[in-house]
Amino acid sequence: MTIQEAILARHSVRQFTNQPLSTPQVEALNQQIAHSNTAKGLHMQLVTNEPKAFSGILSKFLRFSGAMNYIALVGLQSPHLHEYLGYEGEKLVLLAQTLGLNTCWVGGTFSRNRNVKVNPNEMYVGVIAIGHGATQGRQHKSKPIETFAEIEGKPDWFRRGVECAMLGPSAMNMQNFHFELLADGTVKATAKPKAFAGMDLGIAKLHFELGAGTENFRWHN
Ligand SMILES: Cc1cc2nc3c(=O)[nH]c(=O)nc-3n(C[C@H](O)[C@H](O)[C@H](O)COP(=O)(O)O)c2cc1C
Repeated sequence: MTIQEAILARHSVRQFTNQPLSTPQVEALNQQIAHSNTAKGLHMQLVTNEPKAFSGILSKFLRFSGAMNYIALVGLQSPHLHEYLGYEGEKLVLLAQTLGLNTCWVGGTFSRNRNVKVNPNEMYVGVIAIGHGATQGRQHKSKPIETFAEIEGKPDWFRRGVECAMLGPSAMNMQNFHFELLADGTVKATAKPKAFAGMDLGIAKLHFELGAGTENFRWHN
């Protein structure tokens, strides 16, 4: 499965089978985690075979079952931390999909396991549940494309970028992002200051790049 196919196939999955991750799956995920951590000063960690991760009242509340593996979203505190975790975490989500796995971002209530290392200047902001889905999930509803950008008269690559962002996960499916093609050819991406805005923005920016093609534009700073 290619990354483009993974974007279409990915939906949040909250029910997992008890099949453990295979060694090649763990290795591929850990390799990408190492790249992402080095690139952005993050400390994401894959925790496997931890049945207590989503147990008890939490699982009932969050509708999770069978989740035994997760990626802990940890990184150095900085104004960009949440966006970086969104961007790099979503790379892992799409990689997982190509490896035949399913995922669900969890930014709300999650149990902070002692197996996760969090250094004093770091923050632990969420997890991504990961495993073999009991289902493949289903396509989320989306707001119309005009909500996310002024599309008329804009190049095809810009529309493709916005469409790809619309397929991405977002907290409570709020799809809290907006893109603007500026006169100087750069693209400005913004999110309203709501809960999880930073992570949602990072996810949307990765999807926009994958849809538009990074050869076609630069981000506005
Ligand atoms: C930052 C973030 C936090 C999320 N937190 C939760 C959560 O706490 N519990 C949950 O069940 N789903 C959570 N989700 C999953 C969203 O509900 C889901 O992505 C959205 O409804 C769109 O559906 P889809 O992922 O199937 O496309 C979160 C997603 C993101 C991006």
